[in-house]
Amino acid sequence: MKVAVVGKGGSGKTTTSAVLARTFARSGLATLALDCDTNPNLGLSLGYGEEATEKLVGVRQALDTGEEGHAGSMIELIDRFGVDGPDGVRLAIVSAIENPEPGCPCCGVSPERLLADMDSVEGVVVADFEAGLGTIIRMGDDPVDVVVIVAEPTAKSLEVARRAADLVKERGLGRVIVAANRVRDADDLARVRSVLPDLEVSSIPDEPAITRAERNGVAPLDSAPDAAGVRALVELGERVLSSPISA
Ligand SMILES: Nc1ncnc2c1ncn2[C@@H]1O[C@H](COP(=O)(O)OP(=O)(O)OP(=O)(O)O)[C@@H](O)[C@H]1O
Ligand SMILES: [Mg+2]
Repeated sequence: MKVAVVGKGGSGKTTTSAVLARTFARSGLATLALDCDTNPNLGLSLGYGEEATEKLVGVRQALDTGEEGHAGSMIELIDRFGVDGPDGVRLAIVSAIENPEPGCPCCGVSPERLLADMDSVEGVVVADFEAGLGTIIRMGDDPVDVVVIVAEPTAKSLEVARRAADLVKERGLGRVIVAANRVRDADDLARVRSVLPDLEVSSIPDEPAITRAERNGVAPLDSAPDAAGVRALVELGERVLSSPISA
């Protein structure tokens, strides 16, 4: 099963991806989290800690500078550039690098293409994509099971979400679930629903415990598992899992 997490910059993609991945792993599924951002920080939100996250980022950078050998296949890439963390989630950094070798499976393809080729991976793959619509455009016509569109109740964030939802629908890329993030009141939620009618919406409250976790470089799921915002994200994960598994 493949889950793509998209949305405007700063909307909450990484926070959402991390809680989703750990929720999947806790339900007993082998879970691979892909950090597709050129500024990778999914490790911190997953609870890997600063040291392990830095180490993973370092490996990716070493590849870019030629100090580290390339991986010959996608499976080797996950093996070599991946690490197991809390709840057994395997994290791999697959962001685009500056000096890719053409045709190389570990660096010459976009994270979106890489995800498209991941049908053989067992369990669930969660891709924390880079901000904006480019991600969905680069997905081409290759479907995933679920596209989680993270949107804050602001005009700009909702505009990106609306265009993302249109693209996903046009191309039949997968079931869309909107994570209405940082919702403060009923008006916020109503705003999201009015811009994105007919879509499934999960409401995630604005949660001080999530901001605190971010400041401390820890996983919200570890520091505040019972906070309303964290529980709402876990419920979103359970909702995603209710999708029929196609791969
Ligand atoms: N529900 C929430 N309540 C409070 N703060 C939140 C919530 N969700 C995310 N945040 C905070 O918002 C900020 C951005 O979140 P996050 O890094 O997950 O966004 P992003 O979409 O991955 O950003 P980028 O586009 O830079 O990768 C972080 O400081 C995070 O702690
Ligand atoms: Mg992010």
